[in-house]
Amino acid sequence: MSSASGGGHEVLEKNVGWMILLVVLVVSVGGLVQIVPLFFQRSTTEPVAGLRPYGALQLVGRDVYIREGCYTCHSQMVRPLRAETERYGHFSVAGEFVYDHPFQWGSKRTGPDLARVGGRYSDDWHRAHLINPRDLVPGSNMPAFPWLATTAVDGASVAPRMRALARVGVPYTEADIAGAADAVNGRTEIDALIAYLQVLGTALKPAAPAKTADVR
Ligand code: HEC
Repeated sequence: MSSASGGGHEVLEKNVGWMILLVVLVVSVGGLVQIVPLFFQRSTTEPVAGLRPYGALQLVGRDVYIREGCYTCHSQMVRPLRAETERYGHFSVAGEFVYDHPFQWGSKRTGPDLARVGGRYSDDWHRAHLINPRDLVPGSNMPAFPWLATTAVDGASVAPRMRALARVGVPYTEADIAGAADAVNGRTEIDALIAYLQVLGTALKPAAPAKTADVR
């Protein structure tokens, strides 16, 4: 095109600096119009009815989950697809995760999704499975975590974790924080991890279990 019709365009095409700057600007606008509204929608910012902050023991269990890298093999998000809802239950919704800092959605599924594992097995099942998965699932390639059963929870470390979460909006009361050490006193890390697993996905109790008709 000649400069007569090109005008500023020709300057732009010949100047990498301007090109980069304006491309970044255009791409940002495209992203922001999708992202910014999410911060103001009730469905993405407000907890689902019945969601409670993790109790002291569950919170310690969550930290064990992160420390042991469970998220490298397990996701915690049921996608709204028939194959997923038939296997795991109701698909995950944003309001279930507002107290998770950070959330554990993950993406790697060497093992099954755990978003709705709460209540699926007994505490005893989890204990035996974590100590040696192959005792219950012969072909399992999940690692064993036997040390969790003999490691005591450090009660003094729980209150500061709750305070930090309260600062970013998790509604812990002073009483919750004051009682944290007692709540975990004498418990092991495996107790904490099981308490965490058993609460996963239980806040959202749909009127009827997700059936194929809901997601077709
Ligand atoms: C190397 C990958 C790997 C890691 C790391 C791992 N898992 Fe697993 N997990 C699996 C596999 C594979 C299965 C399916 C076989 C079985 O049940 O043992 C499984 C199954 C499970 C189940 C049963 C789920 C169901 O619906 O049947 C639970 C609960 C579980 N894992 C919890 C954990 C926890 C907690 C951790 C961290 C302490 C962890 N896993 C770490 C691979 C892994």
